[in-house]
Amino acid sequence: MNRQAKKPHVVWDPLLRVFHWTLAFFFFLAYLFESEELTMHSHAGYTVTLLILFRLVWGVIGPRHALFSDFLAPPGKVYIYLKLLFYRTAKRHIGHNPAGAAMILLLLITLLITAFTGMCLFAMEGSGPLANTFVSSWPGHVVEDIHEFFSNFTLVLIIVHVVGVLLTGLVHKENLIKAMITGEKLPDLDFPDNRPDEPHHGKNT
Ligand code: HEM
Ligand code: HEM
Repeated sequence: MNRQAKKPHVVWDPLLRVFHWTLAFFFFLAYLFESEELTMHSHAGYTVTLLILFRLVWGVIGPRHALFSDFLAPPGKVYIYLKLLFYRTAKRHIGHNPAGAAMILLLLITLLITAFTGMCLFAMEGSGPLANTFVSSWPGHVVEDIHEFFSNFTLVLIIVHVVGVLLTGLVHKENLIKAMITGEKLPDLDFPDNRPDEPHHGKNT
């Protein structure tokens, strides 16, 4: 059936879209202003933390395609999806595909570690919400190394994320970046699981 003939549906809700682009903005703000502008750096880092906490809640109470239960897939499915993507035969997903979902999980974890270790560094200087807690006695140079490692590792993941978005868009012939701005995607009536209006059954293969 011709997808182009179908009316677009809102797949990414407005809060999720605002979350995404503000997260991208504040990550780069924190990354680029790391030592000279520590106030800007820490505030950007706190904003990233709040955004991630919001996303964790939204993944449980949000609309269908924001739910973790809608898109998280076991490693076997991620592998099969990547293999089929390589042969350009991977099935299109109206929500996140299994590889994208794995990347989202990784990003959320590495961002949380980066933000937490940043707050530990701050606490060692007597500032921030963790000041005067057990983290103050942790070895500063080790925490700084972990903070630096995870901020750079997250940057590498983001590059892979964007390349993945472009590649998937190419294979499925759709503009995923535009979809993350407008929220809209065209339904794929060839695959019953890809109908955005269907009630959620906790699975999107
Ligand atoms: C600036 C270039 C970026 C572009 C073009 C981009 C594009 C996208 C697109 C198109 C999606 C939806 C993927 C899909 O259709 O399944 C997405 C999802 C996501 N991106 Fe990005 N992204 C960018 C930067 C970032 C950055 C810097 C971060 C993290 C700091 C990030 C984290 C995420 C997360 C967590 C999701 C999942 C959205 C959700 O369901 O909450 N992205 N991105
Ligand atoms: C998730 C967002 C964050 C990113 C991407 C990030 C990134 C970075 C980077 C790249 C450095 C330089 C590492 C080095 O060269 O030694 C750094 C240092 C630092 N960050 Fe973060 N950070 C984030 C969040 C935070 C938060 C939330 C805080 C505190 C509230 C924080 C506090 C610090 C401190 C105190 C330093 C050491 C600065 C110095 O003395 O040179 N960071 N961060």
